[in-house]
Amino acid sequence: MTVVTTRFENDLAFVTIDNPPVNATSTTVRAGLLAAVEAVAASDAKAAVLSCAGRTFIAGGDMSEFDAPPVEPHLPDVVAAIEACPVPWIAAMHGTVLGGGFEIAMGCAFRIAAESTRFGLPEVNVGLIPGAGGTQRLPRLVGVEAAIDMCCTGMMKPAAEMRALGALDTVVPGDVVQAATDFAAILPDVPVPVSQRKITLPEPEFFTEKRLTVRKRAKGQAAPLHNFDAVKRACETDFASGQKHERELHLALRNAAESRALRHAFFAERTVAKPDAIKGVTPRDISRVVVVGGGLMGAGIAAACLNGGLRVAMIERDAAAAEAGAERVRGILDGAVKRGKSSAEKRDALLEKFSAGAEYAAARGADLAIEAVFEDLDVKRAVFASLAAETGGEAILATNTSYLDPQEIFAGIGNPARCLGLHFFSPAHIMKLLEIVKTPETSAEVLATGFALGKRLRKVPVLSGICDGFIGNRMLAAYRRQADYLLADGCLPYQVDAAMRAFGMPMGPYELQDLTGLQIAWANRKRQAATRDPAERYIPLGDMLCEGGRLGQRAGKGWYRYEGGRKPLRDAEVEALIENWSAENGIERSDFSQDQIANLVVAALVNEGARIVEEGIAERPSDVDMVQIHGYGFPRWRGGPMHYAEEVGIDEISWWMGAVARQSPGSWKISTLLS
Ligand code: NAI
Repeated sequence: MTVVTTRFENDLAFVTIDNPPVNATSTTVRAGLLAAVEAVAASDAKAAVLSCAGRTFIAGGDMSEFDAPPVEPHLPDVVAAIEACPVPWIAAMHGTVLGGGFEIAMGCAFRIAAESTRFGLPEVNVGLIPGAGGTQRLPRLVGVEAAIDMCCTGMMKPAAEMRALGALDTVVPGDVVQAATDFAAILPDVPVPVSQRKITLPEPEFFTEKRLTVRKRAKGQAAPLHNFDAVKRACETDFASGQKHERELHLALRNAAESRALRHAFFAERTVAKPDAIKGVTPRDISRVVVVGGGLMGAGIAAACLNGGLRVAMIERDAAAAEAGAERVRGILDGAVKRGKSSAEKRDALLEKFSAGAEYAAARGADLAIEAVFEDLDVKRAVFASLAAETGGEAILATNTSYLDPQEIFAGIGNPARCLGLHFFSPAHIMKLLEIVKTPETSAEVLATGFALGKRLRKVPVLSGICDGFIGNRMLAAYRRQADYLLADGCLPYQVDAAMRAFGMPMGPYELQDLTGLQIAWANRKRQAATRDPAERYIPLGDMLCEGGRLGQRAGKGWYRYEGGRKPLRDAEVEALIENWSAENGIERSDFSQDQIANLVVAALVNEGARIVEEGIAERPSDVDMVQIHGYGFPRWRGGPMHYAEEVGIDEISWWMGAVARQSPGSWKISTLLS
């Protein structure tokens, strides 16, 4: 199939790219464009209109080509050829003009866009800088500050804003190829090519201040700073040397760990949503949802479903609780309006589709019921008995339980093939992760419907089997357990937190516990006490804090103290408690460096992830990575714990896991991957 066609009509050339799904600049497109430039240059056309078939203009490079050495023709040469063509090119754009697509557009003499078009250089999101002049042409086109913002965040800007920045000649409501044809009829003088334009230099202190902002936002990631430096270089040298440097760095970064990790995450997000268990299975249509329980989770789930265009009926214990639940849902939707993410009209339209009450009759005719009541087996069982009675035998029944066994929750319910776990994360209307828990009875169709729901709610759905805590909370327990061993053996909470932040986590384990409250984990430890392996080392420090009323930030104290604010402050009382406990238990405390702390904790996390894959709880290691990135703040630029382990080497991780096991004999089952 020809992906680039050139057609001459009257005095114009029409160059069309047709490379579904997003017209990526793959090798055939680049070669086709170069041939088109030659054909156009040899013709007597007075202008060439470049457009794309399908839903978008070129939306970036073909990432599947990034693992191999680059193949000619290279994109910078294609852009240069377009820019140097004696016949002026007009980019006629719609959809999303991203990465290499935007770089090609900047090589054109004129740029015309449909109103809904958005522009961006998202290379930073996959650990790269643009490789075909993006960092050098953009500051010449829109100014230095806007160029830095776009390159360093990867954020897209709408056509109107790009027009205001001077990047577009016209923005049109309708047919952009027709608009380009009309534009060509009264063609203005051809402007100086973007690459040859002068950059308006900012004040010298601008770069110093801006770099600090970029560094802060980068949270340990290197690519935002590389993008910053590349744009800055455009201000300091000529185009040719700036571009040469940009290209070299782009190619070097393709092979660097950060970009490999981010590309891994990008592809893992796509595969995780299509587990083998639902291959070829058609999901059911869902339009009416019942949410039972209107507390923290129920309200968030209801809001997520409303935002996904579903009709939601909430069922609570009594009228007062129903009103409180409804108020929580309204609060969430109002919050979106206040933050400018939604409008009052949209909120009102969503609330039209929402009701709350205490009667199970509201469940009649529902396609799906999601239970989010207290974490108590008997309470949940009673809820499902009522739901089963009202919904008939087909409606899908889901539990949001964190730790209970869904099989026990659903025991005795007719047609267990329709039952599954839908484990949302708090706040449920925001967090991307959705664990979809399969029982041995759950049918493929019901699972597929869970995944379709996840997509509709814009979640990252991950298939999980049944084990204590499913994938995410089971790994969290291992992570915290190893952190506690470190406290017992020599660390203080602030040291563990600082080490994990330095690794790239948004927060350390202890400040995070303070933020979310210590009660749930405490209750859990009590529940697990009976089944805990007696050989396993148990550190009761968290229990001791809870018993002393140190339940976290909301209580004003937890692992840290809080002087009215949210800032965790080291607390001598807690530190003495930890040190005394070690002494009373005959433990000689040692020093651990930041790197040692992070290596030991991450090894325990990787080990648990590997066991979860071995046991078949997760389908693939990359699914585990998705859970950690989208539910627990594991740095995306490290690709998730399983990718990270491959990157640093399994031998290295095994060595650290050996150290973890030696530190606490009898406390860890080591996965075969690491043993
Ligand atoms: P919550 O205590 O905030 O809300 C529970 C709600 O259920 C209350 O509003 C209560 O009135 C209602 N309720 C209790 N019994 C009921 C019944 N028989 N019929 C109707 N409504 C009833 O609890 P939260 O945090 O929302 O947790 C709910 C479930 O979600 C639990 O199973 C929990 O393990 C799970 N979960 C919690 C997460 C969290 O971060 N809090 C995260 C993921 C899951």
